[in-house]
Amino acid sequence: MRTLTDGRGLLFGGDYNPEQWPEEVWKQDAELMRAAGVNLVTVGVFSWARLEPEPGRHDFGWLDRVLDLMAEHGIAVDLAIPTASPPPWLGHRWPETLPVDEGGHRLWYGSRNQFCPSSGPYRERSQSITTALADRYAAHPALAMWHVGNEYGEVCHCDVSARAFRSWLRDRYGDLATLNEAWGTTFWSQGYGDWAEVVPPRRAPYIINPTQRLDWWRFCSDELLAHFREQRDLLRARTPSVPVTTNFMGFFKRVDYWSFAGEQDVISNDCYPEPGDPLSPARTALTHDLMRGLAGGRPWLLMEQATGAVNWREHNLPKPPGQLRLESLQAVARGADGLCYFQWRASRFGAERFHAAMVPHAGPDTRLHAEVRAHGQELRGLAGVAGEPVPARVAMVFGWESWWALEDRGRPSDRLNAVDQLLRYYVPFFERGVSVDVVPPGADLSAYALVVVPNLFLVGDGDAAALTAYVNGGGVLVVGPFSGVVDPHSHVRTGRFPVPLREVLGASGEEWLPASGPVACRWHGGAPFEAETWTELLRSDGAEVVAEFTGGDLAGRPAILRHRSGEGVAWYVGTMPEPAALAALAGRALADAGVTGVLDGLPPGVEAVRRGEVLFLLNHGATTVRVPVPEPGVDLLTGSPADDHVTLAPRAVAALRPEVPTA
Ligand code: GAL
Ligand code: ZN
Repeated sequence: MRTLTDGRGLLFGGDYNPEQWPEEVWKQDAELMRAAGVNLVTVGVFSWARLEPEPGRHDFGWLDRVLDLMAEHGIAVDLAIPTASPPPWLGHRWPETLPVDEGGHRLWYGSRNQFCPSSGPYRERSQSITTALADRYAAHPALAMWHVGNEYGEVCHCDVSARAFRSWLRDRYGDLATLNEAWGTTFWSQGYGDWAEVVPPRRAPYIINPTQRLDWWRFCSDELLAHFREQRDLLRARTPSVPVTTNFMGFFKRVDYWSFAGEQDVISNDCYPEPGDPLSPARTALTHDLMRGLAGGRPWLLMEQATGAVNWREHNLPKPPGQLRLESLQAVARGADGLCYFQWRASRFGAERFHAAMVPHAGPDTRLHAEVRAHGQELRGLAGVAGEPVPARVAMVFGWESWWALEDRGRPSDRLNAVDQLLRYYVPFFERGVSVDVVPPGADLSAYALVVVPNLFLVGDGDAAALTAYVNGGGVLVVGPFSGVVDPHSHVRTGRFPVPLREVLGASGEEWLPASGPVACRWHGGAPFEAETWTELLRSDGAEVVAEFTGGDLAGRPAILRHRSGEGVAWYVGTMPEPAALAALAGRALADAGVTGVLDGLPPGVEAVRRGEVLFLLNHGATTVRVPVPEPGVDLLTGSPADDHVTLAPRAVAALRPEVPTA
């Protein structure tokens, strides 16, 4: 297998959709790309109708010319398998390929993504176009990577999907009696007597069985994975050394990316931070860290980002000058070896004609394109960073199954959400310049000094035992509220909670109590703070009470506990502390673990992260700051030396390589 960058330094480029332009423009595109340092383009993501105007009749001539042109200009191609947007002929001739929503309505073509993942004709036509593309371009010199589909996430509730769901359930449970038990169908008279009665969770009068829903999430994700694997296997058989990827969407709920990750050769992601949200820098950093986790610590690829405003929010804020560079370098700092955009040239027509691009409607002689070009060129200075790891001593556990199980209807509060919890816990580490790996439940934790579990509502016995063993072996663990509540069938574990973790936590609870307003708390013998949304009736079973509730019915009861267990320490947090209190807690857990940030005295708004030996400093704040640096270095972006500090204007970045001073 070739490596992601294949010795070309960092990759830079974007989605290239030449079929939207006359051929005269292509030549200009290639010249402009070269001038901008573009060395990778993704071609053909939405070209199916153009490549196969009718079933089995192919028109590859234009794509041949595009790939040849790219090869002539030294630009590698990430060639797409165009299955994300089938041509109208598929839905017209095989209406059953069109997806059906929960309410039984069929969705039409005229947009994109209109397919039923379980449909036979869709699966066959997908394999046929994949085979044709792979056979034709296997030996093309421009081919560097395969890009299967686009942002997998489709769901269908039709009868074909129902049959596939049943067969998935048969594999899981064997017989109906076991399914009935797993789904708890004695509740509300839901017992199934015949497999034909089992259906997807379609629109129903009231709350749907939570285990039926959980299994549906699992099934839908597996079905998309099955589609991905079919194409990947066809590609691998023809081009064993060309990596295969499909682009993720960060914390996207419908697909379990942990299960996809191991099936891909390269992890790639699309990332569109909300410009107006002050939490965007942290949220984006967390997403990048998730990608690094999915990649098993290896480099990943930022497949899509925007140079400016997107067009799919209600009110699309632009990016101020310097922002595209700042965001792109943030990804480099957190392990990306490629920085690509959607898309190269702004479309004149179609649903995304008001989406920013690398070449705007106004052309290359623009502020925006000049920024793109300068950024592409400066990335050459960072070539040495390609392939380098981002070391982290802290891990955060996040799993899709628990996310699915948690965020369903009929729970104590809809206000406790998996990704929100993760972000809350992540922010204090981000602000201190402490790198965090995101890992799945059950991951090997031996490399980490501190493991944080912001929420793990659903936990298997083995995964809980692994957390316990981690602490007893000397690790420091922090567990957030409403964790360890249900088993993998989403059945409540009875007894004082969190049942599988209470021993290691030295604490247990008996009631979950959503709060109506701010909750008064106090550090034991210390300062007051506030919490919100969620409280629990807890007791210590040997843990030290670190903070207690001071107001309301829980006054005097524990809110946060800390327990020495074996060689390690376990914390339990039975509420949602305000950010400052969570930061204080993170500080104490870091002290327990003996972990510090990459530098002392990091000014607010500045992100600090080390990749390999290079220290990245990124100013997300609105003011110019002076950042002390731990050792003398050279800024790889400017070539300027830095002795004991750097000065960063808003949106400025430094990438410091330590330099041993010559005597
Ligand atoms: C992505 C998608 C691209 C384009 C982009 C616009 O989700 O993969 O094809 O639609 O959004 O922001
Ligand atoms: Zn279907």
